[in-house]
Amino acid sequence: MRFVENPVGKKIAMSVTGFLLLAFLFIHLIGNSTIYLGPDGINTYAKGLHSLPPVVWTFRIVMLIIFALHIYFGIKVTLENRQAKPNGYAISKNINSTLSSRTMIWTGLIVLAFVVYHLLHFTLQVTQPHFITSKNLDYLGRPDVFKMIVLSFQRIGITLIYAIGLLSLMLHLTHGIQSLMQTVGLNNERFMPKFRLFGLIIAVFLLVAYLSIPTVVLTGVLKA
Ligand code: HEM
Repeated sequence: MRFVENPVGKKIAMSVTGFLLLAFLFIHLIGNSTIYLGPDGINTYAKGLHSLPPVVWTFRIVMLIIFALHIYFGIKVTLENRQAKPNGYAISKNINSTLSSRTMIWTGLIVLAFVVYHLLHFTLQVTQPHFITSKNLDYLGRPDVFKMIVLSFQRIGITLIYAIGLLSLMLHLTHGIQSLMQTVGLNNERFMPKFRLFGLIIAVFLLVAYLSIPTVVLTGVLKA
Protein backbone atom coordinates (compact mmCIF):
# COMPACT_ATOMS: atom_id res chain seq x y z
CA MET A 1 0.00 0.00 0.00
CA ARG A 2 3.00 2.28 0.68
CA PHE A 3 3.92 1.98 -3.01
CA VAL A 4 0.68 3.48 -4.30
CA GLU A 5 0.83 6.25 -1.69
CA ASN A 6 3.91 7.85 -3.23
CA PRO A 7 3.51 10.08 -6.34
CA VAL A 8 5.26 7.65 -8.73
CA GLY A 9 3.22 4.72 -7.39
CA LYS A 10 0.01 6.66 -7.96
CA LYS A 11 1.02 7.51 -11.53
CA ILE A 12 1.79 3.85 -12.20
CA ALA A 13 -1.55 2.80 -10.70
CA MET A 14 -3.33 5.35 -12.93
CA SER A 15 -1.46 4.10 -16.00
CA VAL A 16 -2.04 0.38 -15.41
CA THR A 17 -5.75 0.85 -14.69
CA GLY A 18 -6.04 3.36 -17.57
CA PHE A 19 -4.40 0.90 -19.96
CA LEU A 20 -6.78 -1.90 -18.94
CA LEU A 21 -9.79 0.41 -19.39
CA LEU A 22 -8.47 1.37 -22.82
CA ALA A 23 -8.15 -2.32 -23.70
CA PHE A 24 -11.78 -2.78 -22.59
CA LEU A 25 -12.84 0.02 -24.97
CA PHE A 26 -11.29 -1.82 -27.92
CA ILE A 27 -12.86 -5.16 -26.93
CA HIS A 28 -16.27 -3.53 -26.41
CA LEU A 29 -15.96 -1.77 -29.77
CA ILE A 30 -15.32 -5.08 -31.56
CA GLY A 31 -18.42 -6.55 -29.87
CA ASN A 32 -20.55 -3.49 -30.72
CA SER A 33 -19.37 -3.56 -34.35
CA THR A 34 -21.27 -6.82 -34.86
CA ILE A 35 -24.32 -4.54 -35.18
CA TYR A 36 -23.11 -3.87 -38.74
CA LEU A 37 -23.80 -7.56 -39.47
CA GLY A 38 -27.47 -6.90 -38.70
CA PRO A 39 -29.68 -8.49 -35.99
CA ASP A 40 -28.04 -11.89 -36.46
CA GLY A 41 -24.60 -10.44 -35.77
CA ILE A 42 -25.19 -8.56 -32.51
CA ASN A 43 -27.92 -10.86 -31.15
CA THR A 44 -25.68 -13.91 -31.61
CA TYR A 45 -22.80 -12.04 -30.00
CA ALA A 46 -24.92 -10.90 -27.00
CA LYS A 47 -26.37 -14.39 -26.50
CA GLY A 48 -22.91 -15.95 -26.65
CA LEU A 49 -21.61 -13.39 -24.14
CA HIS A 50 -24.34 -14.19 -21.62
CA SER A 51 -24.11 -17.97 -22.04
CA LEU A 52 -21.23 -18.18 -19.54
CA PRO A 53 -22.41 -16.31 -16.39
CA PRO A 54 -19.32 -17.14 -14.24
CA VAL A 55 -17.01 -15.67 -16.90
CA VAL A 56 -19.26 -12.61 -17.39
CA TRP A 57 -19.47 -11.92 -13.65
CA THR A 58 -15.75 -12.42 -13.01
CA PHE A 59 -15.04 -9.99 -15.86
CA ARG A 60 -17.58 -7.46 -14.54
CA ILE A 61 -16.18 -7.54 -10.99
CA VAL A 62 -12.57 -7.21 -12.17
CA MET A 63 -13.53 -4.29 -14.47
CA LEU A 64 -15.46 -2.60 -11.66
CA ILE A 65 -12.44 -2.79 -9.33
CA ILE A 66 -10.14 -1.42 -12.06
CA PHE A 67 -12.58 1.43 -12.81
CA ALA A 68 -13.00 2.25 -9.10
CA LEU A 69 -9.21 2.32 -8.56
CA HIS A 70 -8.72 4.57 -11.59
CA ILE A 71 -11.32 7.04 -10.26
CA TYR A 72 -9.93 6.89 -6.70
CA PHE A 73 -6.36 7.65 -7.76
CA GLY A 74 -7.52 10.21 -10.34
CA ILE A 75 -9.37 12.22 -7.69
CA LYS A 76 -6.49 11.84 -5.21
CA VAL A 77 -3.84 13.00 -7.70
CA THR A 78 -5.99 15.98 -8.75
CA LEU A 79 -6.58 17.09 -5.15
CA GLU A 80 -2.89 16.72 -4.29
CA ASN A 81 -1.84 18.68 -7.39
CA ARG A 82 -4.27 21.46 -6.47
CA GLN A 83 -2.85 21.60 -2.94
CA ALA A 84 0.70 21.77 -4.29
CA LYS A 85 -0.25 24.53 -6.79
CA PRO A 86 -3.08 26.54 -5.18
CA ASN A 87 -2.81 29.21 -7.89
CA GLY A 88 -4.96 27.79 -10.69
CA TYR A 89 -3.76 30.51 -13.07
CA ALA A 90 -0.19 29.26 -12.76
CA ILE A 91 -1.31 25.79 -13.84
CA SER A 92 -3.13 27.01 -16.91
CA LYS A 93 -0.11 29.08 -17.95
CA ASN A 94 2.04 25.95 -17.96
CA ILE A 95 3.57 25.58 -21.40
CA ASN A 96 2.85 21.84 -21.48
CA SER A 97 -0.80 22.14 -20.50
CA THR A 98 -3.51 21.53 -23.08
CA LEU A 99 -7.30 21.70 -22.91
CA SER A 100 -7.28 17.91 -22.60
CA SER A 101 -4.77 17.85 -19.69
CA ARG A 102 -6.41 20.75 -17.80
CA THR A 103 -9.87 19.17 -17.92
CA MET A 104 -8.93 15.56 -17.01
CA ILE A 105 -10.92 15.53 -13.76
CA TRP A 106 -14.01 17.04 -15.43
CA THR A 107 -13.98 14.86 -18.54
CA GLY A 108 -13.32 11.88 -16.24
CA LEU A 109 -16.38 12.73 -14.12
CA ILE A 110 -18.55 13.20 -17.24
CA VAL A 111 -17.39 9.78 -18.51
CA LEU A 112 -18.28 8.30 -15.09
CA ALA A 113 -21.78 9.82 -15.32
CA PHE A 114 -22.07 8.52 -18.87
CA VAL A 115 -21.06 4.98 -17.86
CA VAL A 116 -23.65 5.00 -15.03
CA TYR A 117 -26.34 6.14 -17.51
CA HIS A 118 -25.15 3.58 -20.09
CA LEU A 119 -25.41 0.70 -17.58
CA LEU A 120 -28.92 1.81 -16.56
CA HIS A 121 -29.80 2.08 -20.26
CA PHE A 122 -28.40 -1.06 -21.93
CA THR A 123 -27.35 -3.43 -19.15
CA LEU A 124 -30.05 -2.92 -16.50
CA GLN A 125 -32.52 -1.52 -19.06
CA VAL A 126 -34.37 0.66 -16.57
CA THR A 127 -34.41 3.87 -18.62
CA GLN A 128 -36.73 2.42 -21.26
CA PRO A 129 -38.98 -0.06 -19.44
CA HIS A 130 -41.20 -0.47 -22.53
CA PHE A 131 -38.42 -2.38 -24.31
CA ILE A 132 -36.74 -5.08 -22.22
CA THR A 133 -34.67 -7.53 -24.30
CA SER A 134 -35.63 -10.53 -22.14
CA LYS A 135 -39.27 -9.93 -23.17
CA ASN A 136 -38.53 -8.92 -26.77
CA LEU A 137 -37.01 -11.87 -28.55
CA ASP A 138 -35.96 -12.08 -32.20
CA TYR A 139 -37.14 -14.77 -34.65
CA LEU A 140 -34.65 -17.28 -33.18
CA GLY A 141 -35.78 -16.59 -29.60
CA ARG A 142 -32.69 -14.51 -28.70
CA PRO A 143 -32.93 -11.24 -26.72
CA ASP A 144 -33.30 -8.57 -29.41
CA VAL A 145 -30.32 -6.37 -28.55
CA PHE A 146 -30.25 -5.08 -32.14
CA LYS A 147 -33.76 -3.65 -31.87
CA MET A 148 -33.05 -2.19 -28.41
CA ILE A 149 -30.04 -0.27 -29.74
CA VAL A 150 -31.81 0.92 -32.91
CA LEU A 151 -34.97 2.06 -31.08
CA SER A 152 -32.79 3.95 -28.59
CA PHE A 153 -30.61 5.85 -31.00
CA GLN A 154 -33.60 6.84 -33.12
CA ARG A 155 -34.28 9.25 -30.28
CA ILE A 156 -32.19 12.39 -30.68
CA GLY A 157 -32.01 13.04 -26.91
CA ILE A 158 -30.37 9.66 -26.26
CA THR A 159 -27.96 10.07 -29.18
CA LEU A 160 -27.04 13.50 -27.79
CA ILE A 161 -26.23 12.03 -24.36
CA TYR A 162 -23.98 9.46 -26.06
CA ALA A 163 -22.31 12.16 -28.18
CA ILE A 164 -21.49 14.22 -25.05
CA GLY A 165 -20.18 11.14 -23.20
CA LEU A 166 -18.07 10.04 -26.17
CA LEU A 167 -16.65 13.53 -26.79
CA SER A 168 -15.61 13.75 -23.14
CA LEU A 169 -14.07 10.30 -23.42
CA MET A 170 -12.09 11.44 -26.46
CA LEU A 171 -10.72 14.50 -24.64
CA HIS A 172 -9.88 12.36 -21.60
CA LEU A 173 -8.06 9.74 -23.68
CA THR A 174 -6.07 12.29 -25.69
CA HIS A 175 -4.14 13.34 -22.60
CA GLY A 176 -4.49 9.97 -20.82
CA ILE A 177 -2.68 8.01 -23.54
CA GLN A 178 0.12 10.55 -23.77
CA SER A 179 0.48 10.51 -19.99
CA LEU A 180 0.52 6.71 -19.99
CA MET A 181 3.44 6.66 -22.44
CA GLN A 182 5.38 9.14 -20.28
CA THR A 183 4.82 6.97 -17.21
CA VAL A 184 6.19 3.87 -18.90
CA GLY A 185 9.38 5.81 -19.59
CA LEU A 186 8.73 7.26 -23.03
CA ASN A 187 9.17 10.83 -21.77
CA ASN A 188 11.69 12.06 -24.25
CA GLU A 189 11.06 15.82 -24.86
CA ARG A 190 11.90 15.45 -28.56
CA PHE A 191 9.21 12.84 -29.12
CA MET A 192 6.58 14.50 -26.92
CA PRO A 193 4.65 16.04 -29.88
CA LYS A 194 4.55 12.57 -31.50
CA PHE A 195 3.13 11.01 -28.30
CA ARG A 196 0.50 13.75 -28.23
CA LEU A 197 -0.41 13.01 -31.82
CA PHE A 198 -0.56 9.27 -31.10
CA GLY A 199 -2.93 9.86 -28.17
CA LEU A 200 -5.07 12.12 -30.34
CA ILE A 201 -5.25 9.57 -33.19
CA ILE A 202 -6.36 6.71 -30.89
CA ALA A 203 -8.89 8.96 -29.12
CA VAL A 204 -10.38 10.27 -32.39
CA PHE A 205 -10.51 6.74 -33.82
CA LEU A 206 -12.51 5.53 -30.79
CA LEU A 207 -14.80 8.57 -30.94
CA VAL A 208 -15.58 8.08 -34.64
CA ALA A 209 -15.98 4.30 -34.32
CA TYR A 210 -18.31 4.44 -31.28
CA LEU A 211 -20.26 7.45 -32.56
CA SER A 212 -20.79 5.77 -35.94
CA ILE A 213 -23.45 3.50 -34.39
CA PRO A 214 -25.85 6.22 -33.11
CA THR A 215 -25.13 8.17 -36.31
CA VAL A 216 -26.12 5.39 -38.74
CA VAL A 217 -29.28 4.77 -36.72
CA LEU A 218 -30.29 8.43 -36.43
CA THR A 219 -29.73 9.00 -40.14
CA GLY A 220 -31.86 5.95 -40.99
CA VAL A 221 -29.03 3.90 -42.56
CA LEU A 222 -29.60 1.17 -39.93
CA LYS A 223 -33.25 0.35 -39.25
CA ALA A 224 -34.99 -2.15 -36.99
C1 HEM B 1 -22.37 3.66 -29.29
C2 HEM B 1 -21.70 3.30 -28.27
C3 HEM B 1 -22.01 2.08 -27.44
C4 HEM B 1 -22.90 1.06 -27.63
C5 HEM B 1 -23.85 0.85 -28.81
C6 HEM B 1 -22.81 0.18 -26.50
C7 HEM B 1 -23.55 -0.96 -26.32
C8 HEM B 1 -23.62 -1.70 -25.17
C9 HEM B 1 -24.55 -2.77 -24.90
C10 HEM B 1 -25.62 -3.26 -25.87
C11 HEM B 1 -24.29 -3.23 -23.66
C12 HEM B 1 -25.03 -4.37 -22.93
C13 HEM B 1 -24.34 -5.67 -23.21
C14 HEM B 1 -25.18 -6.79 -22.68
O1 HEM B 1 -25.40 -6.85 -21.47
O2 HEM B 1 -25.59 -7.60 -23.50
C15 HEM B 1 -23.17 -2.48 -23.14
C16 HEM B 1 -22.60 -2.67 -21.90
C17 HEM B 1 -21.55 -1.94 -21.40
N1 HEM B 1 -20.90 -0.87 -22.01
FE1 HEM B 1 -21.35 -0.13 -23.83
N2 HEM B 1 -21.84 0.65 -25.65
C18 HEM B 1 -21.33 1.82 -26.19
C19 HEM B 1 -20.34 2.63 -25.64
C20 HEM B 1 -19.70 2.38 -24.45
C21 HEM B 1 -18.62 3.18 -23.90
C22 HEM B 1 -18.03 4.41 -24.59
C23 HEM B 1 -18.26 2.62 -22.71
C24 HEM B 1 -17.21 3.06 -21.73
C25 HEM B 1 -16.81 4.30 -21.57
C26 HEM B 1 -19.10 1.47 -22.51
C27 HEM B 1 -19.07 0.65 -21.41
C28 HEM B 1 -19.93 -0.40 -21.18
C29 HEM B 1 -19.90 -1.21 -19.98
C30 HEM B 1 -18.94 -1.04 -18.79
C31 HEM B 1 -20.91 -2.19 -20.13
C32 HEM B 1 -21.30 -3.29 -19.14
C33 HEM B 1 -20.69 -4.57 -19.58
C34 HEM B 1 -21.37 -5.71 -18.88
O3 HEM B 1 -22.58 -5.68 -18.70
O4 HEM B 1 -20.68 -6.64 -18.53
N3 HEM B 1 -19.95 1.35 -23.58
N4 HEM B 1 -22.79 -1.54 -24.07
